[in-house]
Amino acid sequence: MEYQANASRYTCGMEYRRCGKSGILLPAVSLGFWHNFGTTTPFVTAQAIAHHAFDCGITHFDLANNYGPIPGAAEETLGQLMIQSFRPYRDELFIATKAGYEMWPGPYGNWGSRKSLISSLNQSLKRMKLDYVDLFYSHRYDPETPLEETLQALVDIVRQGKALYVGLSRWPLEAAEYGFHYLAEQHVPCLIYQGRINMFDRSCLDSGILNGCHNQGKGFIAFSPLAQGLLTDRYLNGIPADSRMAIGHFLKSDMLTDKKRAQIIQLNQLATERGQKLAEMALAWILQLEGVTSVLIGASSPEQLDMNLQCINSTPFSSEELNRIEQIIQ
Ligand SMILES: NC(=O)c1ccc[n+]([C@@H]2O[C@H](COP(=O)([O-])OP(=O)(O)OC[C@H]3O[C@@H](n4cnc5c(N)ncnc54)[C@H](OP(=O)(O)O)[C@@H]3O)[C@@H](O)[C@H]2O)c1
Repeated sequence: MEYQANASRYTCGMEYRRCGKSGILLPAVSLGFWHNFGTTTPFVTAQAIAHHAFDCGITHFDLANNYGPIPGAAEETLGQLMIQSFRPYRDELFIATKAGYEMWPGPYGNWGSRKSLISSLNQSLKRMKLDYVDLFYSHRYDPETPLEETLQALVDIVRQGKALYVGLSRWPLEAAEYGFHYLAEQHVPCLIYQGRINMFDRSCLDSGILNGCHNQGKGFIAFSPLAQGLLTDRYLNGIPADSRMAIGHFLKSDMLTDKKRAQIIQLNQLATERGQKLAEMALAWILQLEGVTSVLIGASSPEQLDMNLQCINSTPFSSEELNRIEQIIQ
């Protein structure tokens, strides 16, 4: 049956936030394709998640060349979705991809050379059945390649019309600031920085990256905001067979230490007192940080997505609650 997007998708509650000092508004909650869009997930499941996201006003999908399994499969899935559902809505979608992690064998399928970035984006566009992406990222800082080579490749990608905007992910502060400056001088300003923020990982706050992005008018999108599911009720009573930790590839059971379990229980207790789920509270906590544009979540079902979208209407935190969270996560 032909997909018809929900007619209420822009009035059903999604909040759109300005991405730094740019013309772009992004949804407060964006959807990542790292998991649940590869060959191990039935297409109908991936399709249900993507359709539901768009129906709820999530206009931003985040991909990378290597998302799978197998690498490239998530982009292939998006390509199928473009053909079957989303083609009429292309201009309503803000689609990102990235290059920088190992994608194909040999010296050119990894890191940040001009050769690697441009070849990779050409492949990504074919897989996704797109003429251009809205946003193309350098997926990680490459200490061996001159920064100017990586950055100029980003500039040229925009000039070639293959991406509308560029972003940096996981670059250390000093290199990112150099990148912001270089790109601005070439009149291809960096739109956004992608880094991990969640209650268990505050490195982007402590290193000054979030602040630096805010001060320089760059958006910031927080990936793994639920610490891959730890900051939900998923692991309160053991490790469910269908969970990411049971698969154990990216989220290993030794990450659920006794200390972490105790913190999750205390955070869950606070969420209950606030009348919400832990996932909702964990996302709302990130969205109240100055400089955060969007939380970039993953979901293995439309139901999880619904639960997480509650964060948009979350009750504001009192200073006492914020202090309590600080004490728990220290
Ligand atoms: N730039 C980078 O280097 C980088 C790195 C990592 C991620 N990312 C991006 O960030 C996106 C999100 O990362 P992530 O998937 O780690 O995000 P996350 O939101 O921290 O974790 C998502 C996972 O948590 C579980 N979950 C989500 N909502 C739940 C709920 N309400 N109740 C119970 N469990 C729930 C699900 O796992 P189950 O399978 O257990 O259900 C889901 O797949 C990725 O897709 C990618 O686009 C970027």
